[in-house]
Amino acid sequence: MLEIQPGVDKDKLRSEFARLHGAQPRLFRAPGRINLIGEHTDYNDGFVLPMAIDRETVVAGAARDDRLIRARSYSQGETVELNLDKPGSPRRGVWFDYVEGVAQALIARGKLLRGADLLIQSNVPAGAGLSSSAALEVSLGFALLAISGQELDPLSLALAATDAEHNYVGTMCGIMDQYAATFAKAGHALRIDCRSLESTLVPVDLSETAIVVCDTNVKHNLASSEYNKRRAECEQGVQLLRLVLPEIGALRDISMSQFELHQHRLPEPIRRRCRHVITENARTLSAAEALKARDLKTMGVLMAESHRSLRDDYEVSCAELDLMFEIAQSLDQVIGARMTGGGFGGCTINFVRRDGLEEFCEEILVRYQDQTGITPSRYVVTAADGVSEIT
Ligand code: GLA
Repeated sequence: MLEIQPGVDKDKLRSEFARLHGAQPRLFRAPGRINLIGEHTDYNDGFVLPMAIDRETVVAGAARDDRLIRARSYSQGETVELNLDKPGSPRRGVWFDYVEGVAQALIARGKLLRGADLLIQSNVPAGAGLSSSAALEVSLGFALLAISGQELDPLSLALAATDAEHNYVGTMCGIMDQYAATFAKAGHALRIDCRSLESTLVPVDLSETAIVVCDTNVKHNLASSEYNKRRAECEQGVQLLRLVLPEIGALRDISMSQFELHQHRLPEPIRRRCRHVITENARTLSAAEALKARDLKTMGVLMAESHRSLRDDYEVSCAELDLMFEIAQSLDQVIGARMTGGGFGGCTINFVRRDGLEEFCEEILVRYQDQTGITPSRYVVTAADGVSEIT
């Protein structure tokens, strides 16, 4: 049986805002995402293939006449306050870092923000690798700009949201999540070139195949520190390879044959980290072509290779994700499966034949639960639009 996740009730959010502030808000939303393939390639100037999903963060907001931003989390019932002219210290480890981070990143881009009352609600599961952070950052940034009557091009919005993550939250993430939350289009995945920051739309045909997100419901707290460590290892790899390939700027620039020739120069585990990124870039380009050609069989093979590379070379998987992946691989209804997002817990994504959907969800539930004692969450997702105002 599939879980029906409650959507964000926009009417309720509006009336709660009116009750709290005696004013009608404007509503803005940005989606969470899955990444079909191209993991840990974005901060190596590489390629990614994310798809926004029908889970979103909604910000209800109205301008204030002073310099305060008062933001309230609908689900946590907690209100926080910041002064636009007196930013607090970064990296306090609370959700408010996101609000302050986004506001300050927009101010740093010369945007004249007004004070605002905000009420925020989300149905993107937090800590599941579905980019609840980017959904919050991008919806907030979009809301603050609109409420202040300021304009900003979408790419600068995505970059400001990424700055918030770097400077105020402290994860040195790439651009993928914020870019997807901004630019996504319903019915499509985005093939993003993370160097040029250009993207193309790749249609995702879900008429006969469903995409099921399976959440291991574990989150290992290594995620942020190991993430930054992987990024540093890739940079070390580039430094070492530059001694013999001075023209390279990032792992993106190294072909498989160049890597094979020079890999002996790299100590472990840097050699394997680089191998993952170089092979994953190639897989991502092939996967975008396969998806375009509706060749899901090839897509499935590439997804499995991606999972194994993340497990063995990049070492960002975990026992629960590997188990979820192995169960899926053993099921007839599954065309492709892999972990998605940064890793160390969170979700797998699964391309499942629609005629076997119920059976797949049942098998995953029973087998994963039997072996771990943890109940997994499973939901079917569709490809949603990027950030917008709800009118
Ligand atoms: C997180 C980061 C992204 C990306 C992925 C791994 O989601 O925010 O920038 O690096 O991990 O692919």
